[in-house]
Amino acid sequence: MIVFGVRTPSRRATLSGTGSEPVDDPGARPMSLARIHNFSISLDGFATGEPQTLETPFGHAGQRLHRWMMATRYWDPSGTAGVDDAFAERHGPGIGAEIMGANKFGPPGWQDDPDWRGWWGPNPPFHTPTFVLTHRPRSPIEMEGGTTFHFLDASPAEALEVARAAADGQDVRIGGGATVVRDFLAAGLVDHMHLVQVPIVLGRGVRLWDGLEALEAGYAVESVSSPSGVTHLTFTREA
Ligand SMILES: NC(=O)c1ccc[n+]([C@@H]2O[C@H](COP(=O)([O-])OP(=O)(O)OC[C@H]3O[C@@H](n4cnc5c(N)ncnc54)[C@H](OP(=O)(O)O)[C@@H]3O)[C@@H](O)[C@H]2O)c1
Repeated sequence: MIVFGVRTPSRRATLSGTGSEPVDDPGARPMSLARIHNFSISLDGFATGEPQTLETPFGHAGQRLHRWMMATRYWDPSGTAGVDDAFAERHGPGIGAEIMGANKFGPPGWQDDPDWRGWWGPNPPFHTPTFVLTHRPRSPIEMEGGTTFHFLDASPAEALEVARAAADGQDVRIGGGATVVRDFLAAGLVDHMHLVQVPIVLGRGVRLWDGLEALEAGYAVESVSSPSGVTHLTFTREA
């Protein structure tokens, strides 16, 4: 499992030359990775239900996609400390900015509400610059705790460039929802993805996989079954 954090430039050991000292690796990946964490999908590939409303952010899925996470210590100090918690905890370390879609930021029509500041209250759980992709951008909103929402009408590649600059050498999290994750995967921009397959069948909603045929090529894929019933899948870009 990759342990994320602030990195020094990527290096590899060599046994040639003067000894076993590390040398610069010219083929190293960019230092600032694009990462996805805790992204939960049903067995039939839906990352959210429908319809999304102010009262039901995940539509008819309710909280079923994220119960595994809410049961962990990551979410609740009295929660579990096993496999699910270990994966959940990787959400934050080494992240310097987030990119999210308009439908993660708010329910349909939030663009018409000048006072809408996201679902998360005055101190959102991002604590970094957070870029909301929308075709109706507005001025940035500075929140408590280090989160500033910036609104961008830009391609995935352009948005990632802006977010990387703001992340100051750290990684960028692609935070969802399904459409934004799918678009970044389709554009080949994701370096590491942690998916959580939840054993429920939603039947409708927004699907992750459409148009991503053979996505697994080019990634090292691992899976870990949890006693909770979910399966953690990691896709790590191969060098
Ligand atoms: N399963 C999970 O782990 C997870 C995680 C996060 C969120 N979610 C859920 O996922 C749902 C949202 O997903 P979603 O697929 O409906 O929507 P989304 O990915 O959050 O947002 C898509 C919208 O963002 C805007 N957008 C996307 N790319 C853009 C670009 N390049 N330039 C400008 N605007 C762009 C467009 O909105 P406009 O045209 O309106 O501007 C587009 O319709 C929510 O229910 C959320 O709760 C699930």
